[in-house]
Amino acid sequence: MTVLCRLADLEATGAKEGVVHDGGIRHPIFVVKHAGGVSAYFNACPHARLPLNAEPDAFFDFSRSFLVCGNHGAHFDAATGRCIRGPCKGESLRRLAVHLDGDRVLCADSDYTV
Ligand code: FES
Repeated sequence: MTVLCRLADLEATGAKEGVVHDGGIRHPIFVVKHAGGVSAYFNACPHARLPLNAEPDAFFDFSRSFLVCGNHGAHFDAATGRCIRGPCKGESLRRLAVHLDGDRVLCADSDYTV
């Protein structure tokens, strides 16, 4: 399993961007820390398939309660990736399986490498 980031990388904004590869295809992803643990998602909003963030590692709202897409304001539950408000309400971010090993966040999906 490959390392996506370390828990310390999530302290500043609650999230850390990265990239995984599927063969020769590059996929931007991000890892987030929330009350239930750590999750990772592909950085493509279900509304228009655009990256959620405009600034590096900036995915959370000011309260760090929800992930926000900066394009049209969709709000997502950080633990599930489900859109709870906005133009893609009811749809979900595509999840990447992760595994914690100490302070390392590992990609648990063998189809992807870092
Ligand atoms: S692209 Fe995310 S809300 Fe429109």
